Amino acid sequence: MLLSFNKIGYLVKILVKIKRYNVAPILKQTNVSPMVYTLIRLIPIPKKRKFKHEHIGKRLTMMLESISPFSIKFGQVLATRPDIVGDDIAEYLANLHDNVTYISFKKIKRIIEKDLGKPVTELYRSIEEIPIAAASIAQVHRATTIQGDQVIIKVIRPKVEEKFRSEFKTIRWVAKVIECVSPAKTQRLRFQESINEIERTVYRELDLRLEGSACYEMAENFANDSGVKIPKIHWLLVSKNVLTQEYIAGERIDNLLAIKKFNLTPDSVLKNLAEMIFKMIYRDGFFHADLHPGNVLITESGDIGLLDFGICCRLSKDTSVNLLKSFAGTLKNDYKASAQAHYDAGWVPKDTNIDDFAQALRSIALPILELPQEEISIAKLLTQMFKITEQFNMETQPQLLQLQKTMLVTEGVGRKLNPNVNMWLLAEPIIMDFIKEKQSPKNIAKEVKSELYASLLESKAMISNINELSENLNKKLSEKSKHHKYGKNNFISNLILIIIAVLLLKLIL
Ligand SMILES: Nc1ncnc2c1ncn2[C@@H]1O[C@H](COP(=O)(O)OP(=O)(O)O)[C@@H](O)[C@H]1O
Ligand SMILES: [Mg+2]
Repeated sequence: MLLSFNKIGYLVKILVKIKRYNVAPILKQTNVSPMVYTLIRLIPIPKKRKFKHEHIGKRLTMMLESISPFSIKFGQVLATRPDIVGDDIAEYLANLHDNVTYISFKKIKRIIEKDLGKPVTELYRSIEEIPIAAASIAQVHRATTIQGDQVIIKVIRPKVEEKFRSEFKTIRWVAKVIECVSPAKTQRLRFQESINEIERTVYRELDLRLEGSACYEMAENFANDSGVKIPKIHWLLVSKNVLTQEYIAGERIDNLLAIKKFNLTPDSVLKNLAEMIFKMIYRDGFFHADLHPGNVLITESGDIGLLDFGICCRLSKDTSVNLLKSFAGTLKNDYKASAQAHYDAGWVPKDTNIDDFAQALRSIALPILELPQEEISIAKLLTQMFKITEQFNMETQPQLLQLQKTMLVTEGVGRKLNPNVNMWLLAEPIIMDFIKEKQSPKNIAKEVKSELYASLLESKAMISNINELSENLNKKLSEKSKHHKYGKNNFISNLILIIIAVLLLKLIL
């Protein structure tokens, strides 16, 4: 129970940061913590002027970046939960960068040797001592295998697991405290659930064998596709803390200069990206759910290079089919069909009135579909669909939320590369070919035995008129109207409370 100057200093630093980055106003918007808001207001330090006109999401991102590796990881996981923080803030949080200093090669060497059980000289021909990337969980080095293959070695930083476990312990305690002071019950439940989710995600990322296995599965799925490059895993050089995989030469996908240098066009890159996403989600039902531009490369030959399979998600075939049905219903102005797809999928309770639900779907879809084509966002459509589901007393499934986030991040890349096109339209030919092929008598006969495709057969009627669907899509996407914004800030105030309470706890322990 000793108070130390360090801890007091740290606490003061955080409170000052909240004030300087002007993140506190968000506390006022909720009824969670008027006390903390007042406390921060009283700190006699001016807000940074340069942040004055920045969005709250940007200010929060900068604040988290400046606190600790843990707060960065926390923010990065939150970025994957637009349902909690709102789309706009999630989009900002997705840009959180770890600014951690890298650890010495001596320590990295020790981890590799301990995990793989041999001196590094027997495992690799050479390893570059300066890492190409260093983040809060892992560090990445380029290397050459004994056989001469160019690889990267990803190594988990020492003691990360212990540190995260102790921080989570503290956070759980804080969550309980917040439960006592927070007046809104649903908010409290959501808060606990979010911490669970964040904890699960972080622990999955702490075992690199799982990442290697996800990467391998994705590579198998894309084995016969051109345009996508997925690193080959060197399994004899893999352990819980060490992952060795093929080096992929390329640049970040949102690097417009690199795209030009490679003699590619933003549209060709976007088309490739949209096709890949479509295949991952609808064809394979297994998708990369952390597609921020740092994890996606563009190679000189125009291939999309996928990295970092720490967060991947599965969608069952019938979920995919119901999603397709739901979208198709929406685009065909047949909201009842769309509502029925939600009902069949079990995304709304069985006692839901389908007409009421169809009406609600129409009310959220039309303001989006009336937008100019380049602004129409599938991610926003999904977000709104899931919000409606919540209103009908149903929790949205985590994999659907990950799907929504994947769409959101991808559309962000799309806007950066070419704000004047809708990237999904670029992939329309392949999407339509895919649906047509799925309906071919040969394929239906092949699949009809399986229960999964019984539902696809059912949906045959829905997708039978491809031309009509295509026409409707084009028509909707070419109509114009105004922009539409929304956001959700409650969780942010809880996040700030956590940071403060963690520090308070450090003071008294
Ligand atoms: N197979 C690879 N080929 C080339 N560069 C890679 C590869 N894997 C990782 N990198 C580089 O290292 C960075 C960090 O790797 P990543 O797996 O994304 O780690 P983290 O989980 O810390 O984000 C990537 O953004 C990329 O620049
Ligand atoms: Mg990464």
